[in-house]
Amino acid sequence: MHEALEALRQEITQTPIDSEAAAEAFRIRFLGQRSGQLTHLFKRLRELPPEERPLLGGQLNALKRLAEQRLEEARLRLRPTPTGSAEIPDLTLPGRRMFTGSLHPLTQTLEAIVRVFEQLGFAVVEGPEIEDDWHNFSALNFPPDHPARDMQDTFFLHQGASYAEAVVLRTHTSPVQIRVMERMQPPIRIIAPGRVYRNEAVSYKSFCLFHQVEGLYVDQNVSMGDLKQTLHLFAQALFGKDVRMRFRPSYFPFTEPSAEVDIWWPLPDHPEGGRWMEILGCGMVHPNVFRAVGIDPERYTGYAFGMGVERIAMLRYGIDDIRLFYENDVRFLEQF
Ligand code: PHE
Repeated sequence: MHEALEALRQEITQTPIDSEAAAEAFRIRFLGQRSGQLTHLFKRLRELPPEERPLLGGQLNALKRLAEQRLEEARLRLRPTPTGSAEIPDLTLPGRRMFTGSLHPLTQTLEAIVRVFEQLGFAVVEGPEIEDDWHNFSALNFPPDHPARDMQDTFFLHQGASYAEAVVLRTHTSPVQIRVMERMQPPIRIIAPGRVYRNEAVSYKSFCLFHQVEGLYVDQNVSMGDLKQTLHLFAQALFGKDVRMRFRPSYFPFTEPSAEVDIWWPLPDHPEGGRWMEILGCGMVHPNVFRAVGIDPERYTGYAFGMGVERIAMLRYGIDDIRLFYENDVRFLEQF
């Protein structure tokens, strides 16, 4: 029996275990319930005289533990690890860089625009994206059935029997200015940033939603000169000190006179060295708008302006398709 145990000890320590299959074979050979060599010897223990059993029993138990240890060690060694090895990781390797996102180019542009006007003393006001006809159109001097309503292709949530009952997705942020003027008397100096919706044919230059920043300044003796000065400072802040700007007469129901503002955009490949690009609409607040909100048009004057954030972001970054802003393709977004 002693020799058998010694031979078995040798076998247990020397049998190589270099694969999962070898580990299983090892288990069956030594520890298997039915024909394992150790199991077999444990059974034979009973045939021995009682006084010999404790010593041999102890030795057998030690061998069993040895076999179990080898098996456990082999399993740890063979267990698949992500790197294919069970080695201690190399703690001197540089750390993995964290992926940090960045602000969306529209958010960056919106914030840049808002910052300029905040520095000029404008307060930021927000309003609802679902509006009634009054705030989106009627108070802004869009007469019922007037073709001016067609300038802004509108999403109606509720059409109603007459214009007055309509509920719409706001087509501009001008309704925020109505809401402010309904609540307070001049002086008023605000900007209204936010999302607006228009039922446009989707293409490289228009989408069914976009972002605006509109501004309003109402006080005594506010003039078109103030408007030009403010917008010039704004254009310089965004496009550089040498920016060239021009005002073109235009039409909006809520301003009179009205203008559209272009900036000169240098383009090296262009035959004329660049072109005028429209960046915003503006004008002096129409007296009917003041009347609608209870501000005395004899006493106060004001200017208003509005711009599309997408348009300005496209100029700033040289983006030629508005749809890129909404696809959330990381390859696009990573560039900002
Ligand atoms: N509300 C106009 C638009 O969305 C922009 C604008 C605002 C024009 C204020 C003039 C004055 O088209």
